[in-house]
Amino acid sequence: MNEKPLVGILMGSDSDYSVMAETAKALKSFGIGYEMTVSSAHRTPERTGNYVRTAADRGIRVLIAGAGAAAHLAGVVAAETTLPVIAVPIDCTALQGMDALLAMVQMPAGIPVATMAIGKAGARNAGIFAAQLLACSDPSLTAKLVEFKAEMAAGVEAKDKSLQERLAEDGL
Ligand code: RP5
Repeated sequence: MNEKPLVGILMGSDSDYSVMAETAKALKSFGIGYEMTVSSAHRTPERTGNYVRTAADRGIRVLIAGAGAAAHLAGVVAAETTLPVIAVPIDCTALQGMDALLAMVQMPAGIPVATMAIGKAGARNAGIFAAQLLACSDPSLTAKLVEFKAEMAAGVEAKDKSLQERLAEDGL
């Protein structure tokens, strides 16, 4: 990406990459610059704190944290900044992401994180939600989001047309 990074994506481990790549893809599709780093709340608390404390001064406007298991990354990030924090629970344990979901969504009052769905859908939505936050002060981004929604609606129309043709073919 050539654009100046506006979004910082943190993930607890490189094993989260296949899920968090969906966030990067969504941001890229809207032309939003991002940076991505591995930083763990538990294994590298200093690194995580340093990254977050310097983010706003580097021009970052939204932070996204993806983590699995007892996922404290988003909460730790939110504790260190006034930037909005989006959380993505990763499904990487025997509990299939329910552990990370509950750890992220059940934040105590005063430290909000915007928790998305478990896994790739949540990661993609994190990118779209970041775009929506940034669009509050960027009309050109709003226009891209309007176009994105129109394309999704057109996709549903096309699927319904195929369904109606199939029903007719099958005599149903
Ligand atoms: C979490 O533990 C990470 O976010 C990852 O989802 C999970 C497992 O990490 P690895 O053992 O694969 O490094 O902190």
